Amino acid sequence: MIILPIEQDNRTTIDAFIVRQWFSLQMVVHGEVIDMSAVDGWYAFDYDDIVGLITYRIVHQEMEILSLDSMQENKGVGSALLGQAIAKAKIYGCSRIWLITTNDNLSALLFYQKRGFEIVKIHYNAVDEAKKLKPSIPLFGNNGIPIHDEIELEMVI
Ligand SMILES: CC(C)(COP(=O)(O)OP(=O)(O)OC[C@H]1O[C@@H](n2cnc3c(N)ncnc32)[C@H](O)[C@@H]1OP(=O)(O)O)[C@@H](O)C(=O)NCCC(=O)NCCS
Repeated sequence: MIILPIEQDNRTTIDAFIVRQWFSLQMVVHGEVIDMSAVDGWYAFDYDDIVGLITYRIVHQEMEILSLDSMQENKGVGSALLGQAIAKAKIYGCSRIWLITTNDNLSALLFYQKRGFEIVKIHYNAVDEAKKLKPSIPLFGNNGIPIHDEIELEMVI
């Protein structure tokens, strides 16, 4: 497996991957609509396939992870991509790395907390608001849990 940056010449392939995972190139998070076709990131490539993708942006010396997807779970793909982002945040002198997940995403809460992230805020009913901007957001998430809240995790660097 190799980790490669998103670049102009692979943008179309990456965009198609994002749409397959998230049904749209528009992500609604903390009340903001984000154009995922313009964000930076890295992808994991194995035997001619994209097996994972992490996207991020850096604003005011803080790195926000916008998405992290692994197509081959429990093989180190997610950890390798997150490690790449943490290394970049350190090089750029970021004060923290943060991200939003949702209350149903127990595997993400496990994954990030085991890697040094802490829950710092719960934005109650934020997903209910996001659904008004993006009606395709499902009512129920992992394990049939109703999705309502955004959970903010951070790693202070
Ligand atoms: C959360 C997510 C990104 C994790 O990705 P992943 O590729 O499974 O992550 P890893 O393989 O690096 O780590 C997962 C587990 O596999 C273990 N693992 C890694 N390599 C392994 C190997 N070769 N053999 C056995 N286990 C291994 C890790 O130790 C880890 O266990 P731990 O968390 O108990 O320490 C993935 O579940 C996912 O894509 N979820 C859906 C999208 C999502 O929710 N994204 C996060 C919201 S931003």
